[in-house]
Amino acid sequence: MPAVVIVGAQWGDEGKGKATDLLGSRVDYVVKFNGGNNAGHTVVIGSEKYALHLLPSGILTPGCVPVIGNGVVVDIGVLFEEIDGLEARGVDTSALQVSASAHVIPEYNKVLDKVTERFLGSRKIGTTGRGIGPTYADKMNRQGIRVQDIFDEKILTQKVEGALELKNQILTKVYNRRAVTVDEVVDELRAYADRLAPYVTDTTLLLDRAVAEGKTVLLEAGQATMLDVDHGTYPFVTSSSATSGGAATGSGIAPTRIERVIGIVKAYTTRVGEGPFPTELHDDSGDFLREQGGEFGTTTGRPRRCGWYDSVVARYAARVNGVTDFVLTKLDVLTGLETIPVCVAYDVDGVRHDEMPVNQTDFHHAVPVYEELPGWSEDISGARSFEELPANAQAYVRRVEELSGARMSVIGVGPGRDQAIVCHDLL
Ligand code: IMP
Repeated sequence: MPAVVIVGAQWGDEGKGKATDLLGSRVDYVVKFNGGNNAGHTVVIGSEKYALHLLPSGILTPGCVPVIGNGVVVDIGVLFEEIDGLEARGVDTSALQVSASAHVIPEYNKVLDKVTERFLGSRKIGTTGRGIGPTYADKMNRQGIRVQDIFDEKILTQKVEGALELKNQILTKVYNRRAVTVDEVVDELRAYADRLAPYVTDTTLLLDRAVAEGKTVLLEAGQATMLDVDHGTYPFVTSSSATSGGAATGSGIAPTRIERVIGIVKAYTTRVGEGPFPTELHDDSGDFLREQGGEFGTTTGRPRRCGWYDSVVARYAARVNGVTDFVLTKLDVLTGLETIPVCVAYDVDGVRHDEMPVNQTDFHHAVPVYEELPGWSEDISGARSFEELPANAQAYVRRVEELSGARMSVIGVGPGRDQAIVCHDLL
């Protein structure tokens, strides 16, 4: 099986780590192809819980090569913090490969991310403040610093000088912050050079060879479809390509080599940060989902906004990603509800929309059209086959499958590694 992509089909935090983990030892390479340490996934192995932000979740699987692709933005300080944290718990991280062409998040972009949000006031995006947006903007503006630059002091100095000419104007004149010196940026990055060097390689070549040899390469998206810079709820999005198309550009693996696209959907919906969210709940049901689902950010600890399952979003995700299989996560969180509303379409100013409205304003005005499905009260966390689910839980899965545009191949019934029902194998 050549390349397989895993994408979030909603606004993130769908439980991608769990899906990756399910594939476990059958995967030879796990590639992060977009985003940076704005991501956050929790992987539970036995009694151990690992919160990863920048490292691909494959880092926890012995024998699997974790790769940070060219499409990622890397905070090198955070990279080593995560490596040190895992090594201290006995996880071997020496197989990690980092693209020489990935961009680096310099300190000044973290400052700019935070002060820009403050400056925007009520128009803020609700970013994670990790410097992601400014670093991708630098990449597109051709003012970015790449991993490979760290190893050439002359080039690095030239690039930092170039970038700071403009950045310091913005920092001092717009935001009234202190200017940054070329030396402090160069010195900080150069200090990592020796430790970083053994990890850095041409990951596009490495991955191409791996695919050619028939190895299984898993491309794991950070964030999710509705946060994708092109296909998400722009401007309330992240600054990278979080859909399956981004997997090709962000890794260098050709699109023709991608055979399967696995979309992860939660049995309800969550979102962090600002932006439209039609099925959002501001009542006790929202609190129920947040508490039962433990919906607090892995990266920022922020309480997540919660709402019912939105099949318009799922259908859209199936379409723009070419989803072949869905993994439906956290079905157990819905246990105990008398009825469960599922959004089947939107009402936009009196007009029914079965597909995602093309205009931002329409999406802001979208009112969900709900279908009420009967709930269940039985504990489903021990179910390991579809038949072991109560009839109403089976009916819920079947109905969301029908509405969402691709088969539900795996159903998550709890946080543990083995708490899943596999209806169709993912590889
Ligand atoms: P940024 O990625 O820090 O620029 O933030 C842009 C938007 O994406 C904000 O609404 C964030 O809350 C959201 N975001 C970024 N990373 C994640 C994630 O891993 N899960 C969910 N939302 C995210």
